[in-house]
Order: sequence, then structure tokens, then C-alpha cells
Amino acid sequence: MSELTRLREFLNELIPSEDQFQRLYQNFCAQIRKGLGAKTNKDADTKCYLTYVQDFPHGNETGKYLALDLGGSRFRVLLVTLKGDRDAELVAKIYDLTEKELLGTGTQLFDYIAKCLHEFVCEQKVEGEHMALGFTFSFPCVQTGLSRATLVRWTKGFNCSDTVGEDVGVMLKSAITRRTGLKIDMVAILNDTTGTQMSCAHRNPACNIGLIVGTGCNACYTEKVENCERLDTKYKDRPKIIINVEWGAFGEKGGLDHLLTDYDKIVDKNSLNAGTQIYEKMVAGMYMGELVRLITLRAVNENLIFAQCKLRKQITDILTKKPNCIETKVLSDIANDKGDDWPMVKDVFKDIFHLHDADPDDCMKFKYICDVVAKRAGNMLGVTLGALVNKVGESFSIIGVDGTVYRCHPNFDGYMRETLDRFVEKDRKYDIMLSEDGSGRGAALVAAVVHREYIERKSLNARLHT
Ligand code: BGC
Repeated sequence: MSELTRLREFLNELIPSEDQFQRLYQNFCAQIRKGLGAKTNKDADTKCYLTYVQDFPHGNETGKYLALDLGGSRFRVLLVTLKGDRDAELVAKIYDLTEKELLGTGTQLFDYIAKCLHEFVCEQKVEGEHMALGFTFSFPCVQTGLSRATLVRWTKGFNCSDTVGEDVGVMLKSAITRRTGLKIDMVAILNDTTGTQMSCAHRNPACNIGLIVGTGCNACYTEKVENCERLDTKYKDRPKIIINVEWGAFGEKGGLDHLLTDYDKIVDKNSLNAGTQIYEKMVAGMYMGELVRLITLRAVNENLIFAQCKLRKQITDILTKKPNCIETKVLSDIANDKGDDWPMVKDVFKDIFHLHDADPDDCMKFKYICDVVAKRAGNMLGVTLGALVNKVGESFSIIGVDGTVYRCHPNFDGYMRETLDRFVEKDRKYDIMLSEDGSGRGAALVAAVVHREYIERKSLNARLHT
């Protein structure tokens, strides 16, 4: 048997069968049903959080808004000008996050956010204006209203003390007052998926699903209020609400056991949050590079790659001793390599393994390993997206997407569509739309829509009382 055939067999457990995809679909749908139910929610891993976003952009929104975006490897502050006519202008500044913010106390983190915000509004010369702010906070939160969000858990490498169980809106507001005394109205806290959906809906109202495939992974969708048993009746005067599925947590109740490999189990065990966010660890940017490292290491040990390479021992050492030495960016970069002398794969080998004369066969095999990991992720996401398209139940759904993995990997969109096409019911159609800065523009839109709703309710009350 050739080495390549042996490698293919070795990777077979990472290539789900049709039957495994079917089970993924069924298990996921069951969790969504549980998540929505009042009595069953506690047993669901996909908690289906209510976002309280019930109004959608009309496209004619105007005004200046501030937005904060916390949830990935960097923190951003934005000034968003909605210009009517489905248009918006953004000025954004990126601030680095160090271990002190990621793993320190909540006060340290929120003081840092307030400091960056202060710096930004002064630079933009808007410190004198009384502005509404939308806070994109991309972690699981129980919301009891648009601006009240209790943190359930940290994900993606964040782990600040004294924060879980606290209202992040209160923490942000007190940090802003403590440090700056600025007059800022934090009117909404939202997840990045919601921001993405809103941002795409601003350009095309048919967008009813939001997806992020970046450092973390999650989706949201528009649900009918009558299907939301946990929603208080006072919110049922509007027909729909966005549900933040928090599907990164899917699998915590065993729904992915039939797909988990040893590599997935090791990635989970070595993570900051072992036992949680199982789906996320199979499909998101924070983990896919690490999966490739573990697979490559075992493949080297089984003489399936680098078998004749003179640096074999050095490569094994690096792969063993350096967790996270392969970034997920590598999967996207080398997917662009067409196999003509393998320039991208060779660059990666130089960078990571200090290998300067790579064998073309090893290049081809490494690319194959990366492809298998990316394809599994894209295909699985297509299945669960298909479930959401069917759940929304419209004849046409647009899925708004953002995140570095989706944006940078040349084949990811195709991998998702492969299974979406198989799982979306025949009488429904879908399309995928790349979001334009969901976390910034989406946050401003939620702030604008909240403001509009507030004015509408105020004038309705005034009319009722005259
Ligand atoms: C978080 C989600 C978020 C996703 C994408 C996950 O780790 O739990 O709230 O939407 O990452 O950023």
C-alpha cells in the first residue's frame, strides 16, 4: 500500500460519513428544541439565549453611534455614522489585549476598556457629545433586556476573575464613570453573531441568520416569539426575536460523541475550559491549527509523513514540545498553494520546523492533513446551518457571515455549501453573504433601532394619554 493511501486511511476518522452527518443534524435539532423550551432549557447545551433584539433595520437609520467590540484576539472601539440609504461609515481603532486583560480581574479588563474608549472619543473629538453606545460582547450571557447581560462563562482564551454571574453592562458603565465621567448611554449589549445578522439585514432584509467562524464559532437566527417559551409576554407584541444559539457549547451533552477523535479530546483536555465548548473546538480558529499539530505528530510517529526527512527528529521534537506552534492561519495560507513547487507549504515548514529543503511528497501530505481538518469543520457547520435555515422556515434565507476562518480560507465557503445543499429542505433556498463589520456596524444599528423603538413607544404612550 502506498504511503499516501496509508495516510488517507489514517485520516479517515476525520472524514464524517453521511450517517454521521445525519446524526449530527438530528442531535443538533434536538438540542435547539430543548434550548427553546422553558422546562428543558436547563438540560440543553445550546442554550438559545434571548437577545431582545426584535426590531430590524429599515435601512434609513441615521446618526452617530459608538461601538465597542470585545470577543476576539483584539479589542476595538468604533465611531459609526449611519447615513440612511443602507449606508454607513466607520472609524475604528484596534487595541491590543495582553494577558493582564485576558486573565486578570474583571476590574482590570473593564478599566482598560474605559481607558481605550476615553482615548478614542478624545482623538475623534466627540467627547463633548452625548452618544449612544452598542457593546458587542461575544461570550455566552443571559440577557434580561437589551442592556442587561449576565456573563455565563468565558471562552476563547479569556478567563477574568470576579466576572461570571455579574452583569457586564453594569461593569462597563461603572468603569466608564470611574475613569472618564463621560456621558455615554450604553443602550445595548449584543453578541457578534447578532451584530453580523443586523449588519447584513441592513443591506438585505432577507438576512435571518448570523454566523461567526473566527477565533470562536457561534450562530444566531430569527425565531417567532410564539416558539420562545422563556420570553415574557410583554415582549410578545413584536412577532420575532433574534436567538443567540451559542452553538459552540454543542456536544457538552454527548451530541458529538460519534464524531470526536482522540485529537479532539486532547485539544479539549489541554484547553483553558476543558469539558466545555466541544463543537467550537472542532470548527473554530482558536483550535484547528492545534488539531493539525496533533494529527501531524501522530502521522510522523507512524512514518506517514517526513519518513525520509533528515530533520525528522527535530520536527517530532517541535511538534511534541510546542503546543500551538501551528496557527490556524496556516490552513488558509496553504490552501492557496496549488501544488506547483509548493511555495506556501515550504514557507510554513521553514518557519515552524526550520526545514529548508522539503520533499514535495511531504508538502502534499501536510496540505492534505490541513484540508481534512478545514473540510470537516466547514461540512459540519453546513449541517447545523442547514438545521437553522429549516428552523427559520422562510422560503429564502440569507446567512450573514463573518470571522477570519471564513474570510481567509479559500475553500471554506464551498465546504459549508456542500452540506448545506444536502440538508436544507427542498422547498427552501439560501444564500451566504459576507458581513461588513458586523461587530461595529451591527452594534450601531442595534443602538439606532433601540432609539427608534424608544421614540415610537414614547409617542404611542403620549397619544394614549391625550
Ligand atoms: C462565544 C460566542 C461568540 C463566538 C464567536 C464563542 O466562543 O461563546 O458568544 O459568538 O465565540 O466570537
